[in-house]
Amino acid sequence: MEITRHYFCLSIFFFHSLMLCLTINAHTNITTDKHALLSLKSKISFDPHSILADNWSVNSITPCNWIGVTCNSRHNRVSALDLSNMGLVGELTPNLGNLSFLISLNLSQNNFHNSFPRELSQLRRLKVLQCNMNNFSGIIPSWFGLLPNLRFLYLENNSISGFLPTSLFNLSKLEVLHLGVNSLEGSIPREMGNLPQLKWLNLSLNHLSGSFPLGILNLSKLEILSISSNSLFGELPLGIGNHLPKLQKFNMPWNKFSGEIPSSLSKCSLLQIISLPCNNFSGRIPREFGNLTKLELLDLSSNQLTGAIPREIGALSSLGELALYNNILYGAIPKEIGNLTALEVLYSEDNNFGGTFSAMLVAK
Ligand SMILES: *[C@@H]1O[C@H](CO)[C@@H](O)[C@H](O)[C@H]1NC(C)=O
Ligand SMILES: *[C@@H]1O[C@H](CO)[C@@H](O)[C@H](O)[C@H]1NC(C)=O
Ligand SMILES: *[C@@H]1O[C@H](CO)[C@@H](O)[C@H](O)[C@H]1NC(C)=O
Ligand SMILES: *[C@@H]1O[C@H](CO)[C@@H](O)[C@H](O)[C@H]1NC(C)=O
Ligand SMILES: *[C@@H]1O[C@H](CO)[C@@H](O)[C@H](O)[C@H]1NC(C)=O
Ligand SMILES: *[C@@H]1O[C@H](CO)[C@@H](O)[C@H](O)[C@H]1NC(C)=O
Ligand SMILES: *[C@@H]1O[C@H](CO)[C@@H](O)[C@H](O)[C@H]1NC(C)=O
Ligand SMILES: *[C@@H]1O[C@H](CO)[C@@H](O)[C@H](O)[C@H]1NC(C)=O
Ligand SMILES: *[C@@H]1O[C@H](CO)[C@@H](O)[C@H](O)[C@H]1NC(C)=O
Repeated sequence: MEITRHYFCLSIFFFHSLMLCLTINAHTNITTDKHALLSLKSKISFDPHSILADNWSVNSITPCNWIGVTCNSRHNRVSALDLSNMGLVGELTPNLGNLSFLISLNLSQNNFHNSFPRELSQLRRLKVLQCNMNNFSGIIPSWFGLLPNLRFLYLENNSISGFLPTSLFNLSKLEVLHLGVNSLEGSIPREMGNLPQLKWLNLSLNHLSGSFPLGILNLSKLEILSISSNSLFGELPLGIGNHLPKLQKFNMPWNKFSGEIPSSLSKCSLLQIISLPCNNFSGRIPREFGNLTKLELLDLSSNQLTGAIPREIGALSSLGELALYNNILYGAIPKEIGNLTALEVLYSEDNNFGGTFSAMLVAK
């Protein structure tokens, strides 16, 4: 009797689970996907090459062979939508949130405008959201933090404004965060350090302010750090190079950073680019930079650097471009610089004061 009752209970349990699964799956199917795409089509006001107009036909049984649409073979549902570079003008539709098997959405290089509909937060499988070079506006929605599988987020070159929402730093799988060329403001939240997989961070050409976000020292996989043309100020953490072993590009021109250039960057042995012009750095050029055998560009121009050019710079065998003009450097140019056969040396005339020379530019 006991056993039967247990069995009965279990049956009910499984029956309920099954019903739950069925309801979840019965909710949407490929017809839902077709409706979602037709709804998007209806929001497109200009389609210069008539791509969707002719191809995305309401009479098709399935959208799987429409241009730009990829379906996965297992579930026969839309898994990728690539409408990049089609010159489309329009806006997004809430129905896109019904593409429940969508992994990649690429709308790069069109003229989509307005904001992202909240329904996109239902795209639990989404890994790639590539909407760069459009005219999306509004803020970065905090519900982006609800996309647990997002790995690549490209929103550069739009009209996005407002602050960086801390929920963005909930995206523990994020590898690429590119928000450059927008109108973002405020500081970079400390929670930036919660993105353990981040390899590429580009926040260039915004209106961000505040100090260098210490959370970045947590990003041990970071390869590219680009925060040029903002209004960040204060000193860089002197030990920065001890924390970013994979760093290849360190790009922060046109800010208001001051203090010393951290010599610890010499520990980032993969560095190809150090670009820090147009800041307020003082002190000397770290001689330790002579260890950076992969360095191709060293641009420290238009700062307040003093002292002599270290001989060790002459050991940078990969260096193609060295820019040091508009500083307060003095002393003779070390003869070791002559070993850098890839370089062509130019002297700047207009920086003459006190010493043997005050500035120089060595260009490709
Ligand atoms: C999708 O589901 C609807 C009901 O929700 C049904 O009418 C339609 O035939 C289904 N489409 C496919 C292709 O199974
Ligand atoms: C849409 O384009 C694809 C690929 O060119 C083609 O296979 C398909 O038949 C077209 N569908 C319609 C309805 O024109
Ligand atoms: C999205 O489209 C752009 C432009 O065509 C392309 O460069 C990029 O690789 C695409 N992204 C993905 C994830 O396929
Ligand atoms: C899809 O999304 C829209 C808007 O979010 C909704 O109104 C519609 O009922 C959804 N479901 C289907 C099956 O199309
Ligand atoms: C932004 O995109 C436009 C085209 O959409 C392009 O002309 C412009 O050069 C881009 N700006 C930057 C800074 O990349
Ligand atoms: C982008 O959208 C803004 C309004 O949000 C508009 O003023 C501007 O003209 C648009 N730019 C382009 C290139 O369409
Ligand atoms: C962060 O992600 C978890 C798991 O995906 C989710 O439950 C939570 O609501 C998210 N928080 C925010 C602020 O987006
Ligand atoms: C660094 O990452 C760990 C987990 O990966 C997290 O607990 C910690 O808060 C992060 N620290 C900062 C400063 O972001
Ligand atoms: C960062 O983004 C800007 C704007 O799109 C671009 O010009 C720059 O090359 C990027 N930096 C790196 C290091 O990729």
